[in-house]
Amino acid sequence: MEKQIVLLPGDGIGKEVIGAAQEVLHAIADEFHHTFHFETHEIGGTAIDLYGTPLPDSTVEACKKADAVLLGAVGGPKWDQNPSHLRPERGLLGIRKALDLFANLRPIKSFKKLLHSSPLKEEVVKDSDLLIVRELTSGLYFGTPSERRDDGNTVVDTLFYTRKEIERIVDKAFQAAQVRRNHLTSVDKANVLESSKLWREIVEEKKAQYPDVTVEHALVDSTAMKLITNPSHFDVIVTENMFGDILSDEASVLTGSLGMLPSASLREDGVGLYEPVHGSAPDIAGKGIANPIAMILSAALMLRYSFKLENEASLIESAVKSVLDSGFHTADLQITGGQLVGTAEMTKLVVDYIKSQNASTCILECYA
Ligand code: IPM
Ligand code: MG
Repeated sequence: MEKQIVLLPGDGIGKEVIGAAQEVLHAIADEFHHTFHFETHEIGGTAIDLYGTPLPDSTVEACKKADAVLLGAVGGPKWDQNPSHLRPERGLLGIRKALDLFANLRPIKSFKKLLHSSPLKEEVVKDSDLLIVRELTSGLYFGTPSERRDDGNTVVDTLFYTRKEIERIVDKAFQAAQVRRNHLTSVDKANVLESSKLWREIVEEKKAQYPDVTVEHALVDSTAMKLITNPSHFDVIVTENMFGDILSDEASVLTGSLGMLPSASLREDGVGLYEPVHGSAPDIAGKGIANPIAMILSAALMLRYSFKLENEASLIESAVKSVLDSGFHTADLQITGGQLVGTAEMTKLVVDYIKSQNASTCILECYA
């Protein structure tokens, strides 16, 4: 298979972890005889410094031509005081919109070795394995007007959704549930918001098309609570953009570290942008200690969702699990009696595991 991949390192540790994903993909290409072409472009604060905009046209054009995009992270204190059109986050929102990446998938699964690092009791968190499906290109993030009025003393943001926008994300979530444990929780605030009432109606209409999936509706506030008290209740959660942003950060720490969690942002045709859920971590940037696992697992999601390379994706996931099971960990993780390693060593351990597995053996194992 031959594919064109655009790398957007962005800012802070984004620049360090993107290289880790690239190394892992080189190893996968060697083992499975694929050709991946890489092209690097700027986004976020780095793009502001170089080109005066968080999302240069050249970046958008390159991403539009690519089969998939890998993004590191954007943001940092250097740009915090900038006016809103010159904030690094604008680059991220802009590329999501420009590529119509409406479906954001954030899988959250606990690793046995890290259970003790969870802020929750091990017995509460141990069977957690959930997928948050977040609508990503509409809602409060993109509704207009969004502005200050009355000399800055009045503000307005708009929560806007069309039926079509809700239908397509709800379909994605039902389909995701069908290949998991067939349970869907649709999260809204239908006791207050008009947009949530339409959301709920659409989920009710759609459920007849997916009779194998059990659906429940839940309010966002009680879902926030249940994620802490009973996270293993959930299989797939589907929700609008802002609720999904908040719930996914909450859910991400359940399993011990934000440094472990990948995400996929998909368009209808499978083109996708893949990025860690964590941010640019300016406090540890440039030190070579960032955890590359979320980025590496994001590359695995790219292989699975955009390229349909399930064996290759699973091999990366097994590699990460095996490295952690052997006790290796970066500074954000604690493994008692384990060995602390930096970004480069962690990446090498994952690559070595991949190389140590003969590709044909894996295929046999994966089908076994
Ligand atoms: C995320 C981030 C972004 C979002 C920010 C950086 C704009 O928090 O991907 O969850 O709010 O979508
Ligand atoms: Mg967020």
